[in-house]
Amino acid sequence: MTNAPSAAVADTTSIDMDAVNQSAAPVKDALTGFAETMTATLESLLPQSDGPESKLFEAMRYSALGSGKFLRPYIVRTAALMFDVPEERYLRAGAAVEMVHTYSLIHDDLPAMDDDDMRRGQPSCHIAFDEATAILAGDSLLTLSFEVLAGIKTHPDPQVRSDLVLTLAARSGGAGMVGGQMIDLESEHTAVDAALIARLETMKTGALISYSSAAGAILGQAGADAIKTLETFGFELGLAFQITDDLLDVEGDEDDVGKKVGKDAEAGKATFVSALGVAGARDEARRVTDSALARLDMFGARADELRSVAEFVLARNN
Ligand code: IPE
Ligand code: IPE
Ligand code: MG
Ligand code: MG
Ligand code: MG
Repeated sequence: MTNAPSAAVADTTSIDMDAVNQSAAPVKDALTGFAETMTATLESLLPQSDGPESKLFEAMRYSALGSGKFLRPYIVRTAALMFDVPEERYLRAGAAVEMVHTYSLIHDDLPAMDDDDMRRGQPSCHIAFDEATAILAGDSLLTLSFEVLAGIKTHPDPQVRSDLVLTLAARSGGAGMVGGQMIDLESEHTAVDAALIARLETMKTGALISYSSAAGAILGQAGADAIKTLETFGFELGLAFQITDDLLDVEGDEDDVGKKVGKDAEAGKATFVSALGVAGARDEARRVTDSALARLDMFGARADELRSVAEFVLARNN
């Protein structure tokens, strides 16, 4: 069978996981606190209605306010704090990417795509509601994200708002997340090499994380160099994040991850685990994370919190 882990690959890794876990612990704790702030922000931005369209809004709220980690908005926040960006601005830019991410998950779970019944520890949107409602909830979350970014409260300078809209649109569409999803589906049960897997994972997952780190610098009206560097950092961190998602599908606990595990091999997905085995994928995640970390050198100690986020990505169990 193609895209199944190769038994020939040794299952040992040279990574010191104790050290990784230690540097990731502060971010795990910070994410718990941040989830409350982010939930309140989304709560205030998501529509509610007693009208005939209320089912749509219920489905949007059901998925967006479920128990996501809010890692993407946390990255927006952490990068924004490097440039002294006020809280309301980075929370809105973070809410926007969380909405796009939630839409991508709702559609990813549909029977036409990964056909998954569980998401964020609860039935997937199309199970809790129905397929048509899930499609519409995704559409509506995507659209709302740009409405939020374009709003004056996101930044008083229209050029900044326009740059955020442009960046999120470019990362979400065919050259980013959606394009990556296409390659993911086209690669099922097909022998593909590690270079194509890196491309598909950088697009489907790296792109939105690239927006997240770049958004902090855009909001802070940082120079082109800083924006570009954080954009590249995010692409690489996002690739590492997807490799650890591939690993969690094999090694993770269903209760921790809040979704079914063991589904990638069954679906014949092209992942780093199918290409390199578990240990090979873990080493690749470390290598890609180190490359991302090296990008942050230009920021010195200012980027320390962002460095911890990268360690969290390697150590995460959910
Ligand atoms: C899951 O993303 C899908 C991927 C891109 C790997 P997360 O692991 O960030 O999911 P939530 O938002 O915490 O549910
Ligand atoms: C999803 O990748 C990436 C998206 C753009 C939604 P996966 O299909 O591996 O994500 P999970 O494992 O279902 O969360
Ligand atoms: Mg998928
Ligand atoms: Mg999936
Ligand atoms: Mg997965």
